[in-house]
Amino acid sequence: MDTEGSLERMQTDYVDIYYLHRMSGVPVEKVAEAMGKLMDDGLIRGWGLSQVDVDVIDRAQNVTPLAAIQNICSMVERDSEAKIIPYCMENNIGFVPFSSIASGLLSGKITPQTQFERNDDVRNWVPQLSKKNIEGNQPIVEMLKNFADNKNATPAQISLAWMLHKYPNVVPIPGSKNKERIIENLDSANVELTDEEFSDLERSLKGLKVYGHRGLGGF
Ligand SMILES: NC(=O)c1ccc[n+]([C@@H]2O[C@H](COP(=O)([O-])OP(=O)(O)OC[C@H]3O[C@@H](n4cnc5c(N)ncnc54)[C@H](OP(=O)(O)O)[C@@H]3O)[C@@H](O)[C@H]2O)c1
Repeated sequence: MDTEGSLERMQTDYVDIYYLHRMSGVPVEKVAEAMGKLMDDGLIRGWGLSQVDVDVIDRAQNVTPLAAIQNICSMVERDSEAKIIPYCMENNIGFVPFSSIASGLLSGKITPQTQFERNDDVRNWVPQLSKKNIEGNQPIVEMLKNFADNKNATPAQISLAWMLHKYPNVVPIPGSKNKERIIENLDSANVELTDEEFSDLERSLKGLKVYGHRGLGGF
């Protein structure tokens, strides 16, 4: 690990957070030990893991406390809710949902007719975005659209406001190459749900089947 070389190329003295995006064959304890050394040396402020389950998080946390866990998480990818987010809350670890609007599905802008032009567009492999599953997931999208209309917000904003309301330690990172959408997504922090609205959303989601699942083992 040539961290000093990387820092030099980035023209910085330290990085705030060093993420390990996937586990290799190296035991997580060894990785955590190395991260602890980088922290002691002042080269990184904190470290994080991505797409990991609670057992790996716990093993790492016992060696060098983690700053953040970046796992897939949205209204249609909820594996982290049972144990991982509660563990993070208990241990003061930030939880960073990626694909937090399900690669665009929860914006309501993707229809069964949507085609992803480029062969290397990652959305061609997102299970919820196959033509069949976009069709299957329409009841979720319709529910979100109705809810958003009543709230004078957009479906993407509601899907983000839902997780911000639900958890104090969650910081979603929706991706967009479009300035208006970036602002729209940032504005979700100003969409406040009442407890009643939140419960309505949770109830509706419980009654709707999700078609397609990436999970923690996914790309
Ligand atoms: N840790 C990991 O393993 C991992 C894996 C994947 C991604 N990530 C990170 O997660 C972040 C984004 O995740 P993601 O791209 O997989 O999924 P996402 O944030 O759920 O969705 C991004 C997609 O939704 C569209 N979109 C965003 N906001 C929208 C809006 N308000 N209305 C309509 N469409 C909207 C974007 O298109 P436009 O660009 O056209 O707006 C883009 O195609 C990135 O920072 C990425 O680095 C991490």
